[in-house]
Amino acid sequence: MKRVVIRRPGGWDRLELEEAPDPTPSDGEVLVRTDAAGVNYADVIVRMGLYESAKKYVGWPITPGFEMAGTVTAVGAGVEDVAPGARVLGVSRFGAYATHVVLPRDQVFALPRAMTASEGAAFPAVFLTAWYALFELAGAKPGMRVLVHSAAGGVGGALLQLARIAGCTTVGVVGSSAKVEAARALGAGAIIDKSTEDLWRAARRHAPDGYDAVFDANGVETLGESYEHLAAPGRLVVYGFATMIPRGRGRPSWPKLAFDWLRTPRFDPLRLTNDNRSVMGFNLSYLFERRAAFLPALEQLLGWIEAGKLAPPRVTEFPLNEVARAHRALESGTTTGKLVLLTR
Ligand SMILES: NC(=O)c1ccc[n+]([C@@H]2O[C@H](COP(=O)([O-])OP(=O)(O)OC[C@H]3O[C@@H](n4cnc5c(N)ncnc54)[C@H](OP(=O)(O)O)[C@@H]3O)[C@@H](O)[C@H]2O)c1
Repeated sequence: MKRVVIRRPGGWDRLELEEAPDPTPSDGEVLVRTDAAGVNYADVIVRMGLYESAKKYVGWPITPGFEMAGTVTAVGAGVEDVAPGARVLGVSRFGAYATHVVLPRDQVFALPRAMTASEGAAFPAVFLTAWYALFELAGAKPGMRVLVHSAAGGVGGALLQLARIAGCTTVGVVGSSAKVEAARALGAGAIIDKSTEDLWRAARRHAPDGYDAVFDANGVETLGESYEHLAAPGRLVVYGFATMIPRGRGRPSWPKLAFDWLRTPRFDPLRLTNDNRSVMGFNLSYLFERRAAFLPALEQLLGWIEAGKLAPPRVTEFPLNEVARAHRALESGTTTGKLVLLTR
């Protein structure tokens, strides 16, 4: 097999391709020969050595990657409902940037006929994240007004699509004019291009009484105002801190990290109670021990793909040996949809 390996935290040059013996599935596991692996912003944070759950569960060296699609080539004892030759997509806690991946049976799902392998590999992480944020935490209901930051990106685009299914009214925020069409295609009810207009004045115009839910993975740059623009009651769902990382530099700036950490808003429980607002945070990678709580959602999400209610993510493909170029693109903050690595 071939896999990407990061031996020490750092920049794009830390992404090495290495050969290793093919893995074999143990009891209850399946071996997948992958066609494609999804790239997520979290992988960048893993490479930089700032992703706590990567350090907790794997350490160094690490092969990043939360998702992939391909063909089952072997199954371990006790696996009877999936056989070699099955086309699947899978969700993993790291290790997916590889030509061969072994996974527990329950982390592998039939690849819908409507999806290419690249689309399948791009699907689980962002849609599970969006599903958990929208349905489990924000309690999405018809008529809710929701604001989605980075709406043309991976999770943001999934949030827009799922919020439409839930019957919510959506406002998507994008960081550049080049992303407006992508957000529109994903079904945003209104779009704020914060590169050409004042984000918060426009947000107020679209929802004078505030938003029932705001989804924020920017962190310090928008978190305080995201809270201030909630309705009462209203829920702020926090799931990332991308603005703490300098765009396109390839490595963190320690003074910026420290400064941004200091100025990240702290939320006062007395004020939350008085304001009738909630602030929630989560990181799916810690929830694998309780995966029964979220893996069944993938069945429902894939059902929506089969039924044509959800569109697969729009993907940009990179060969596996150009993984550094894929990370570089994602860190530029200019991409739309999802990036995937081709592993065949
Ligand atoms: N908690 C969880 O379980 C979980 C799971 C998956 C992802 N996430 C988080 O969700 C966020 C989105 O992930 P994704 O993989 O779907 O990425 P993405 O949204 O496709 O790309 C990242 C986007 O973030 C915005 N951004 C803001 N500051 C940035 C910076 N300094 N560098 C680069 N981009 C910046 C840019 O959009 P605009 O300029 O248009 O805003 C950029 O396009 C990330 O913060 C990620 O860590 C969390």
